[in-house]
Amino acid sequence: MKELMAANWKMYKTWDQASATASELAGLLHGKLPAGREVLIIPPFTSLKAVSDVLTPIEGLHVGGQDFYPAQEGAFTGEISPAMLADLGADYALTGHSERRHVLGEDDALVGRKTAFGLEHGLKVILCIGEKVEERKAGRVEEVLARQLEAGLADIPKKTLAENLVVAYEPVWAIGTGEVAGPDEIQTAHGHVRKKLQQLLPAIANEIRILYGGSVKPDNAGAIMALDNVDGVLVGGASLIAESFSKIVLA
Ligand code: 13P
Repeated sequence: MKELMAANWKMYKTWDQASATASELAGLLHGKLPAGREVLIIPPFTSLKAVSDVLTPIEGLHVGGQDFYPAQEGAFTGEISPAMLADLGADYALTGHSERRHVLGEDDALVGRKTAFGLEHGLKVILCIGEKVEERKAGRVEEVLARQLEAGLADIPKKTLAENLVVAYEPVWAIGTGEVAGPDEIQTAHGHVRKKLQQLLPAIANEIRILYGGSVKPDNAGAIMALDNVDGVLVGGASLIAESFSKIVLA
């Protein structure tokens, strides 16, 4: 399995800014990426094409969408489809990111519909899960992750390949706060995720990549990558600067 080093640019960067960061990143990573690692940049929809034109010609570099709507086309104002993402060069997409769940109000059922639809329509899907601080304090981490995985994976195609499905564990309290989860917390949570995947998808569970996200920085990425069941990272703030993200990628 290839480790996946992913950058979620969220709602940052205009077209010009995204193009400039992508070009800088291409210069920093070209010819340096270890064979066992791939890199994914997830810009806003508006700069997907600009970023994919610069990065996808380079071996091991991919772009993805932050979200999509689970329909091929139709009267869904403001939404975009998996085919539209693919048309701009994206082969990956996120579902269920914490900010979509907790700021935009997406529930487990919609996240499940999106995950299934994306996989059915040729995208590699990164299903994001993670507990809120009050759920952690109440000792409910395993239960919350299990619920999000069950709902998120409920309707995925039976023939789903391990390489097309990724799970990102992003504890809500660690996102954008500078408060990275500790090694024990990460390892324990990733262990819960692996165990639940083994129940739900026994044939492919051990080959599904599990990413950690939440305040990943150049100075903690190497230690996080070394933990059991950590097969990559999903980086927000520290991915906005090419030099800092390239250090994480090469950590
Ligand atoms: P930060 O790296 O800014 O904490 O964001 C993590 C995240 O939400 C990535 O999807």
